[in-house]
Amino acid sequence: MKVLVTGGAGFIGSNLILELQRRFPDWELFVLDDFSSGNFKNLIDFEGEVITGSITEPETIEKLRKLGLKAIFHQAANVNTTDTNQRRMMEVNCEAFKEILKVGREAGAPVIYASSAAVYGNTSPPMKVDQGLKPENVYGYSKLAMDRVALKFMRENPQIPVVGLRYFNVYGPREEHKGKMASMVLQLTVQILKGKRPRLFKWGEQKRDFVYVEDCVEANIKAFESGKSGIVNVGTGKARSFNEVVKIIKETLETDVETDYFDNPYDFYQNYTEADLIETKEILNWVPKTQIEEGIPKYVKWIKENVNWEKLPY
Ligand SMILES: NC(=O)c1ccc[n+]([C@@H]2O[C@H](COP(=O)([O-])OP(=O)(O)OC[C@H]3O[C@@H](n4cnc5c(N)ncnc54)[C@H](O)[C@@H]3O)[C@@H](O)[C@H]2O)c1
Repeated sequence: MKVLVTGGAGFIGSNLILELQRRFPDWELFVLDDFSSGNFKNLIDFEGEVITGSITEPETIEKLRKLGLKAIFHQAANVNTTDTNQRRMMEVNCEAFKEILKVGREAGAPVIYASSAAVYGNTSPPMKVDQGLKPENVYGYSKLAMDRVALKFMRENPQIPVVGLRYFNVYGPREEHKGKMASMVLQLTVQILKGKRPRLFKWGEQKRDFVYVEDCVEANIKAFESGKSGIVNVGTGKARSFNEVVKIIKETLETDVETDYFDNPYDFYQNYTEADLIETKEILNWVPKTQIEEGIPKYVKWIKENVNWEKLPY
């Protein structure tokens, strides 16, 4: 069967496509990417077909319609949370998604898509799927707009399973291309490897729900296998501070370098995110396997062995 991953050259998309290739050898896999933020290196081990184009182009959507897809995993997006160009953000994230959903409906293909915890802004945790939807930037708003398009589509097309995955703070292999959008686990690890002090906003006690990319991949597969529709959180259900993250990285690298705390320059900053996982368990039958005590050491070792970290701008 023919299966598409959009954004397959990116961080989550490449981890997903490589796992699908490993686990379902009889599937015919396609990646669609415009390589605007992803990296070809993430696709070196992918043996299926790569379609180069943008989800915003009618001719690219036309190509997808002709494929006869049986499942779509939609990860492609403008992921720059600091981009203030509202029209560009909405066109790439929301308008293109409407077209992807139409491709799914015509082909009878389930659509699993990436939403984000950014839809919640500074809502008090734990973040529940239908509460406190107060995005603070246009990126978060574009993901909320996608979720609303999806909910309407689910009501009007109950025969097509659609699942929105609101990822929290994802970390893990294959995110080196993301620059300042990469996880703090990568940025802090590289700072320490370079012999610098890890840099945190004062006083490092802000908390995030850090989720390992392998768990996100599993959530995508479970969403497809469930045959159900809905919007769910993808996190660990447990908020952890940046100080805790630094502590685990330092233990893994066997160093006791001091943290360099500095003033947070942002007017808006999420101080605390934590996923409520009620719908996630119900709809996906998925629970996260990896807490940071296991995920960070595993990832730090991967960085040391696989990443040209001297060249990264942290
Ligand atoms: N990484 C996280 O912590 C996180 C958190 C919440 C949500 N998300 C969402 O998960 C998805 C994947 O994010 P990621 O972290 O892997 O980012 P990424 O930048 O590594 O991957 C996005 C991919 O989409 C491609 N792309 C961008 N615009 C495109 C377009 N118009 N047409 C075709 N391809 C296009 C990029 O080239 C890139 O390969 C995104 O939808 C993002 O919003 C990620």
